[in-house]
Amino acid sequence: MRQDMHLSSNKVVSIFKTIEELNLLKDVDTILDKTLYEARKLANADAGSIFLKEKETLRFSYVQNDTLFPKDEANVALYADFRLPVSTRSIVGYAALTGETVVIDDAYELREDLPYRFNPAYDRKSGYKTVSVLAIPLGSFSERLVGVMQLINARDEGGKPAPFSKESQDYMPLFANHASLAIERGIMNRELILRMMKMAELRDPHETGAHVQRVGAYSAELYQQWAMVHGVDRNTIRRTRDVIRLSAMLHDVGKVGISDIILKKPGKLDKEEFSIMRWHTIFGARLFLQNTSSLDEMSYDIALNHHEKWNGTGYPGQIPDIRADAIPMSAPKKGDEIPVAARITALADVFDALSSRRSYKEPWPDEKILEVIEQDAGTHFDPSIVEVFFQIFDVIKAIREKYRE
Ligand code: C2E
Ligand code: SIN
Ligand code: SIN
Ligand code: FE
Ligand code: FE
Repeated sequence: MRQDMHLSSNKVVSIFKTIEELNLLKDVDTILDKTLYEARKLANADAGSIFLKEKETLRFSYVQNDTLFPKDEANVALYADFRLPVSTRSIVGYAALTGETVVIDDAYELREDLPYRFNPAYDRKSGYKTVSVLAIPLGSFSERLVGVMQLINARDEGGKPAPFSKESQDYMPLFANHASLAIERGIMNRELILRMMKMAELRDPHETGAHVQRVGAYSAELYQQWAMVHGVDRNTIRRTRDVIRLSAMLHDVGKVGISDIILKKPGKLDKEEFSIMRWHTIFGARLFLQNTSSLDEMSYDIALNHHEKWNGTGYPGQIPDIRADAIPMSAPKKGDEIPVAARITALADVFDALSSRRSYKEPWPDEKILEVIEQDAGTHFDPSIVEVFFQIFDVIKAIREKYRE
């Protein structure tokens, strides 16, 4: 291909290395994070965002901006919730509709005869100054459009905004095609899990998808903040964050094994019903006993332990011997015996249960929820996790808003 003449072999090698790394990731958010970061690095861009195609719109799905906020910290910007139409009137829409890469040297000096306009609303709100733009359609080789990646403000050697180089324009589509496949796979993973959870809670189809997405997102953000505060190394944080989101989404998968009569009971469970309900932790864990991947391993930990309490009054303790299912629950775990992923999911789950309507309860006002969480630090919850919960409460609220019923 003639256009490959602009590609230096170093760049190509680094693109393929990045693609290999992308293929190890599981969750769509982690894949978007890495895709955008590496694309920005390749093009030396200050900022960027990714829109994913959802039905006939483009949904804002990821953002990074070196000028406005640090990467890898909890941030409400990631959970902004808006969509653009697939139409030639916006830059992103135009790239989606035509499949062409859009190259803009100065967003505020666009030629009048172009079909699209630059929308300055974001700049106005944030105080950012967009200059150059490179909007790349994310089309996989099957030609299905996954979304559009928009890179903003290429930097010159002095760090000042400059036009995107010819080289960037040439290699970005190569990277984008491969990244699109990884993104598609990440979307599929997320959807597969949502579908599994729909089976588990078919009885409550309106509530489930959103509850599961929220608990997953809360858990990922709580983990990242907790791990940063505790000096966990960046690679471990990145790997764990990828897995915890999907695993936390599966925390209640064991409810498949609980009868509708109990699960959908409009009132309070009696003692016997609740003792049956507690088996959902063990049913869930048994699905992941094979432990063939880090996802299985963490899903096992979370399914089994998300109702354990910090002070040792939760359930179910150890998993009973699979050959003798009449065995009563063993002594509960406490403190550090409970895997940290489960301690995190426990808080995420209760916060979400309290702020949602259930067949047996109305949503609580935030004030009352926060009071209970604060009170239960050190009894129900790991106090260090309650602490980070309050540190990132604005992000928690943004997640709740994004994945509302
Ligand atoms: P869930 O609805 O997802 O609730 C998860 C956890 O949130 C509960 O774990 C509990 O720790 C907390 N939670 C939920 N609602 C309340 C509440 O009104 N007050 C307080 N203080 N905490 C609350 P738990 O208790 O182990 O329950 C596990 C699951 O059992 C629940 O999951 C739900 O599916 C079911 N369940 C619990 N209690 C009832 C009930 O009274 N009626 C019915 N129908 N189901 C219940
Ligand atoms: C990363 O920093 O690459 C992974 C975690 C994230 O989604 O921020
Ligand atoms: C990445 O692998 O996502 C890039 C490294 C970083 O997070 O700074
Ligand atoms: Fe549960
Ligand atoms: Fe739950």
